[in-house]
Amino acid sequence: MRHGDAGRYGEDAFRPEETGEAHRIDLGALAYDEVTTARLRALGTGPGWHCLDVGAGTGTVARWLLESAGVSSVLAVDRDTRFLPVDRPPGLVAQTADITAPDFDPGRFHLVHARFVLMHLRSWRRMIARLGSLLVPGGVLVLSDAVDLTTSSAPATPYTVVMRAMWQALRQTIGTDISWVPDYPYFLLEDGLHSVAAEIHVPPLLPNGPLNRFWADTWERTRCAILATGQVDESGIERALDALSSPDSAALSPGMLTTWGWKPQHTAGSPHP
Ligand SMILES: C[S@@+](CC[C@H](N)C(=O)[O-])C[C@H]1O[C@@H](n2cnc3c(N)ncnc32)[C@H](O)[C@@H]1O
Repeated sequence: MRHGDAGRYGEDAFRPEETGEAHRIDLGALAYDEVTTARLRALGTGPGWHCLDVGAGTGTVARWLLESAGVSSVLAVDRDTRFLPVDRPPGLVAQTADITAPDFDPGRFHLVHARFVLMHLRSWRRMIARLGSLLVPGGVLVLSDAVDLTTSSAPATPYTVVMRAMWQALRQTIGTDISWVPDYPYFLLEDGLHSVAAEIHVPPLLPNGPLNRFWADTWERTRCAILATGQVDESGIERALDALSSPDSAALSPGMLTTWGWKPQHTAGSPHP
């Protein structure tokens, strides 16, 4: 594993070649899809919409957009599309691309959605603006990323020690940074979007629930980097894993902040979803 500024998601952590990585992404999706899809429905996604799902992962949101919301098309972009369903519903098109590449220009869309992607990119601020620029007039940008509400003064339990070490490890190895996520609404306003709003969801940590399994798996995959922070040793990680399967750990999971904003209608007759 490289250190410094060179590391990237999918190369220096969370490599798609690693056994079970698709399952790990699906565990996250299980914990958050209900909230994501409720928001997308409330925003009016439906027939006639052409959608872009950036960093689509296993494609659960793309599939929902087509099969439940009835949108007209979804372009699912990921730097590695191997986890997208092979039995793709009609209208789902997969594109393998690095969204940070200067020539990434997949078209214009009524919905541009990215969940748990920009927090892993060092160029997150530029990417917020870039994704907003891919909207048709009247289109909506919907961005979700992680927030950790555990305060720095929260008790140093096995869980909080490992979770803090994990964020530090991800920052050092692949550049993950969630410190700016609560400021999303300001960035969307800065980029000229209107009717900006945001909501937060913190799912419960339940023994053997999808979220507990997601974090246990994430810690296992980043164990070396977590240890390299010097904040915790092997036995500390084991104690934190025990806490994740205990009904009495009182741990607060990181949550998901979703922010959305609309591109103004500039011209009469331009498409509005
Ligand atoms: C944590 S997963 C989230 C997957 C999905 N959005 C979800 O919420 O279930 C992050 C995804 O973003 C993709 N990704 C990371 N960096 C990327 C980049 N620079 N360009 C395209 N995709 C990227 C990864 O391959 C991975 O599928």
